[in-house]
Amino acid sequence: MYYPEEVVEEVRAKNDIVDVVSGYVKLQKKGGNYWACCPFHGEKTPSFSVSGSKQMYHCFGCGVSGNVYTFVMKYENYTFPEAVRMLAERAGVKLPEVEYSEEQKARASRRARLLEVNKEAAKFFYFQLRSPHGTTGYQYLQKRELTDETMHRFGLGYAGKNGAELVQYLRSKGFEDDLIKEAGLANFSERHGLVSQFWNRVMFPIQDANNRVIGFGGRVMGDGEPKYLNSPETPVFDKRRNLYGLNFARTARSGNIILCEGYMDVIAMHQAGFTQAVASLGTAFTPEQANLLKRYTDNVLLAYDSDGAGVKAALRGIGILREAGLTGKVINMKPYKDPDEFMKALGREAFQERINRAENSFFFEIRILESQYDMSDPESKTKFHREIAKKLCEFTEDVERDNYLQAIAEKYFIGIENLRKLVTTYAAQTGLAKPVERPKSGIQQKNKPEESAKKSQRLLITWITDEPSVYGKIRKYITPDDFTEELYRKVAERLFADMDAGNFNPAGIISTFEDEEEQHEAAELFNTNLPELGTKQEREKALHDILLAVKKSSYEYFSTRLGSDVNALNQVIEGKKALEELAKLHISLD
Ligand code: CTP
Ligand code: MN
Repeated sequence: MYYPEEVVEEVRAKNDIVDVVSGYVKLQKKGGNYWACCPFHGEKTPSFSVSGSKQMYHCFGCGVSGNVYTFVMKYENYTFPEAVRMLAERAGVKLPEVEYSEEQKARASRRARLLEVNKEAAKFFYFQLRSPHGTTGYQYLQKRELTDETMHRFGLGYAGKNGAELVQYLRSKGFEDDLIKEAGLANFSERHGLVSQFWNRVMFPIQDANNRVIGFGGRVMGDGEPKYLNSPETPVFDKRRNLYGLNFARTARSGNIILCEGYMDVIAMHQAGFTQAVASLGTAFTPEQANLLKRYTDNVLLAYDSDGAGVKAALRGIGILREAGLTGKVINMKPYKDPDEFMKALGREAFQERINRAENSFFFEIRILESQYDMSDPESKTKFHREIAKKLCEFTEDVERDNYLQAIAEKYFIGIENLRKLVTTYAAQTGLAKPVERPKSGIQQKNKPEESAKKSQRLLITWITDEPSVYGKIRKYITPDDFTEELYRKVAERLFADMDAGNFNPAGIISTFEDEEEQHEAAELFNTNLPELGTKQEREKALHDILLAVKKSSYEYFSTRLGSDVNALNQVIEGKKALEELAKLHISLD
């Protein structure tokens, strides 16, 4: 941790969350809580709630939750130490001097430092672009018809020809050479020492969904090679799991997301008002990115280049989207090469027209397939029809397969019964048409045993914090070890200890985690949506079921670890006893 835990806690306690949040959004009191339209996703009716008693916020719309620190981190795009400094100043808490020492800095979270150095580099490039040294870059972007507002919105910058300047600047800001190197911003050479990785390029800072700069792409001025140079993978830059433009697209609420190939495409689309455009990061679209998109939409429109490579990439993309359970459509860009060129030539209305007419991805695949066969040759044509039948077998749902079958038969003038026979033949041969379990879809995953175990554990933690009097009633049966998920266990240990000591403080527990993802996950634990239950009996039954589920999953978890975990035997014996007792127990919620 950057700052000692007591200080972090003191600063948190002195910044009332209702006060702080109301400095950013207009809160309205309703019942025990305060409400507003969520600042983290677009909405018209308030589902963002702030609880003064819990010192936490939670959005029932998009699911974000956290304490005062995570709020300012998200809102202001601060790292954790930055949030601590800001709130300390706000509350007049003096942060300990020693924390600024070199030694402390060296121990500071590496990830946070990498994000800080990236942010500082982005600032440097940004100011370069707007300085006399940046004229080349600025003129280039103007020539590509980007407005000042767009350049500002995407934080575009320029890396000049002098590769030493960035390094000098970052050093002057207190960043160590090895950090600058690890961030992929500079390379070490025998002759020149540390020099910038990027020079003579316009710079595209790559931001994650929370607006943090995680890497860069740079486009060369003129015809140099490579045309685009990207940051290498670093602990904060995972190219498989991020998408350019997602920080804006996630709140676009357009009902779809448009997937492009390049940075310039995304920017041109946004400038034209299509703020739902994203692109992968100089690498092919990945299953991880498909799952990321799934959080925001079910409909993905592909706006890939219209050349051969683009078509190939689109076919691959379609497969990945389908695997993730997303509906894909393909936007036809012809006669232009990519969205950027299309937009310049025909503008936004014409593009909207292309969106409306986007082609069903299956039809697209069949159309591309068709181009490989000679329809004037019966032999070749038959082969084409066989391939269609094979592809139709990929639909596991009878109704869907038949609908496609009819549509394709009509479109390609194939006798519908003939095609149906062909499909049946292939289905019999390969068994493909049998509905198979598709564990890859998100819905299925939620039903996995680990998932339902985790859900019960979350419900229990939320219930205890919402209704602390319950804790005394369940303490006998549940221990922190019953929380089989590591992060959950840590939270439970802390929560139970606090409760035993009679001072319970969930908002404080969140900030004992260093990593932002972990803080987010810990916050979620306190904000599960509890079932809405009317009568006392219903509530008692629900609590009883949750307890049993937690105990049972922990019992099963440790049973499978009997050989390998010394702790397991004890847990299993205790667990069995508790399970038996619990089965008979009546919990009364008076
Ligand atoms: N790309 C890359 N490295 C390259 C070429 C391309 O990382 N050497 C990535 C970039 O993200 C680029 C995308 O692939 O934006 C698409 O490449 P391409 O179609 O060649 O470039 P455009 O986006 O059309 O680039 P521009 O319009 O700037 O010429
Ligand atoms: Mn282009």
